[in-house]
Amino acid sequence: MINKVDIKLGRRSYEIITGPGLLSRAGEYLNELGLGKKVLLVSNAQVYKLYGEILKNSLQNSGFTTAAAIVLDGEEYKNLWEAEKLYNAAFGAGLDRNCPVLALGGGVIGDLAGFVASTYMRGVPLVQVPTTLLAQVDSSVGGKVAVNHPRGKNIIGSFYQPGIVTADLNVLESLPERELKAGMAEVIKYGIIYDASFFAWLEENMDYLLNMDYEALAYAVEKSCRIKARVVEEDETEKGMRAILNFGHTVGHALEALTEYKTYRHGEAVAIGMTAAARLAENMNFLSSSDRERIIELLLKAKLPVEIPTGLNREQLINCFYQDKKSASGKLTFVLPVKIGQVEIVKDIKEENLLFNQVSAHNEV
Ligand code: NAD
Ligand code: GLY
Repeated sequence: MINKVDIKLGRRSYEIITGPGLLSRAGEYLNELGLGKKVLLVSNAQVYKLYGEILKNSLQNSGFTTAAAIVLDGEEYKNLWEAEKLYNAAFGAGLDRNCPVLALGGGVIGDLAGFVASTYMRGVPLVQVPTTLLAQVDSSVGGKVAVNHPRGKNIIGSFYQPGIVTADLNVLESLPERELKAGMAEVIKYGIIYDASFFAWLEENMDYLLNMDYEALAYAVEKSCRIKARVVEEDETEKGMRAILNFGHTVGHALEALTEYKTYRHGEAVAIGMTAAARLAENMNFLSSSDRERIIELLLKAKLPVEIPTGLNREQLINCFYQDKKSASGKLTFVLPVKIGQVEIVKDIKEENLLFNQVSAHNEV
């Protein structure tokens, strides 16, 4: 069954379509948007080999001409040099201002292609065709596009909404298990920050999700997109409440940076970050210990890591927290759960409340 989630942002409104078999319908959807007939299809070799042909055929059957631009696979290629190559590919393909850039891949491809779409000719239409769970429930939705810079991850970017997101659930079948679990961390995040009944549903259904039960996945993806859409509608450019989507990310980003993006998948680092934030919230009497336990239990059920690894330097870790975009004016700011389904943005947290010198035997990344 095909589900549609509207994201209402005035002239930048669009639909997130989720369901089976959407790759072969991409041409139809692009036609409905009235886009120019040349498409720059951005992907990596791994994903293009699996899904490029079916997508290309669909576009060509609907009268589009396609040019494929293949980027090397990995976070390290989400940079300005690759963007430059994509601008050249867009010129080579004759893209004009009405012609779309289409991102076929995970969050790396989506962020990079989105950045190029937002800047080529001051902005051309962007089509997101996310192929990882993380990209389907998070990165393809909401308009954050960026590349990395030696001074920081996602530091060169903008808010640039796609014209449509089509998340074909069948592509998740080829996803490595580790990527599926990493995406699950963001799904769990939505339950914690916004929807206690979704969290309870995840507690009941995590085994089905990890076993790729189609109906369970379809529900989880649609529900996650619906929650993200509501948050982005409230605060598109993160002036305030959109920051709740960063729950678990202060510690998560710090762990990724201190391990040079080599140890953790993004979702794994976020899982550890959500655990740390839940413990901090309990320590500050915001969160009951039973809710803290439920959060950690669900992450463990999703086979995600929950402990900060031993051997990290506490001082470096805390320095990273101060560099977090939320921690303006030298004050530590965290998104903390106050109960399952609700978080608060808490400013001016004292360093002594952080319990991050705890370590345990659970590290299994
Ligand atoms: P990714 O894009 O690196 O994809 C993970 C791996 O899965 C890659 O090796 C990729 O080739 C492979 N892959 C993708 N789809 C596949 C499929 N269907 N079958 C088999 N293999 C497949 O990682 P990701 O977790 O999707 O995204 C992480 C990126 O997303 C980071 O750069 C992060 O900063 C960004 N991000 C952005 C936002 C946002 O709001 N824009 C939000 C969260 C994360
Ligand atoms: N992934 C966080 C956001 O989109 O705001």
